Amino acid sequence: MRALVYHGPKNVSVDEVPDARIESPTDALVRITTANICGSDLHMYEGRTDVETGKVLGHENMGEVVAVGDAVVKVRVGDMVVLPFNIGCGFCKNCESGKTGFCLTANPGSAGAAYGYADMGPYSGGQAELLRVPWADWNALVLPDDAREKQRDYTMLSDILPTGYHGTELAKVGTGDSVVVYGAGPVGLMAAISAKVRGAAEVYVIDHQPDRLKLAETVGATPIDDSAGDAVQQVLDLTRGEGVDAGVEAVGYQAHDHDGAEKPGITINSLIQVVRPTGRIGVIGVFVPEDPNAEDDLAKKGRFAFDFGTFFFKGQSMATGQANVKQYNRGLRNLIHRDAIHPGVIVSQELNLDEAVEGYKNFDARLDGWTKVLLHP
Ligand SMILES: NC(=O)c1ccc[n+]([C@@H]2O[C@H](COP(=O)([O-])OP(=O)(O)OC[C@H]3O[C@@H](n4cnc5c(N)ncnc54)[C@H](O)[C@@H]3O)[C@@H](O)[C@H]2O)c1
Ligand SMILES: [Zn+2]
Ligand SMILES: [Zn+2]
Repeated sequence: MRALVYHGPKNVSVDEVPDARIESPTDALVRITTANICGSDLHMYEGRTDVETGKVLGHENMGEVVAVGDAVVKVRVGDMVVLPFNIGCGFCKNCESGKTGFCLTANPGSAGAAYGYADMGPYSGGQAELLRVPWADWNALVLPDDAREKQRDYTMLSDILPTGYHGTELAKVGTGDSVVVYGAGPVGLMAAISAKVRGAAEVYVIDHQPDRLKLAETVGATPIDDSAGDAVQQVLDLTRGEGVDAGVEAVGYQAHDHDGAEKPGITINSLIQVVRPTGRIGVIGVFVPEDPNAEDDLAKKGRFAFDFGTFFFKGQSMATGQANVKQYNRGLRNLIHRDAIHPGVIVSQELNLDEAVEGYKNFDARLDGWTKVLLHP
């Protein structure tokens, strides 16, 4: 089968690799119809993880079931399914309590597994013609009859929509709240949609990329351009000097100032400033324990100066981590099915798998008009 393979920093290609196949009776085999490129893939693409060369990438996967193992009872050949990027077993302590992003079985010695990702187990990704889905009855979400017609929307259920929603859950966004989202990338935009679903009255999205800020407006949020002046001050001015009830970090450790200098703590410390006393902060942007290619010594160890005094003084709370996609994907699927949300509006390119190399290059450069890329193997 053809698949997108990682060969080293900024070096990927579409290669012929052995077909994915059923390896265990609980597996399903899926013919991929859509696999997206994610901001998380770019951490690997840029050489900012320890992902091994030869890995097939792709954790945002959707497609048609073409085979199932003998122990699969729910999922059937012919079903259209979307797969959470996390792989869970369904029976460990964390899976049982809904923390499927931290499965203790799928990646022994660690907590959490995923398709085609650094440090998340041996699983191949879905930027390929075929994908092996372990524990298929637990992991595959079966889609309704409009699956192919609404592919652009449903494909967002694999990661970024539930991840954005997870950010608003971690920040406990509730009816009538004011919310700030740092980052108007795909994940930040999904957090903005999610905040609206949860009844937020005001949603501000901060970035410095004009095309992405425009999309923030499209999804019903107020865009804040941090290159046009201090973003914290702009939001304070819009909230009577009070700050917001809740904040979501959707940028991660490669956060930079608008001149492009990397500052991993810049968004977290800004959130501490802009969220009101006793407010909540949800961090879904990825931060890593080791970052050997970072610019300064603290950052190499995954550390930065944290404004803890102000955080404590304001009595704020913060929660973090990979999204437990399975906790939210069924409900969000139903909202898409009933036309209540249209997350596919952020899709900017739909490419053939053979065009994936160019897709990576342009998405990584964050070229104007490259917001979310779907690959169709
Ligand atoms: N927790 C999870 O389960 C999970 C899942 C998916 C993605 N992620 C992570 O979420 C983050 C965002 O993903 P994405 O696909 O939207 O990535 P992206 O790189 O496309 O978007 C990030 C955006 O942040 C902006 N940005 C950079 N520095 C900024 C700053 N100081 N202030 C405001 N905006 C700033 C960039 O201009 C860009 O538009 C990444 O770290 C990704 O790895 C986490
Ligand atoms: Zn992703
Ligand atoms: Zn588990």
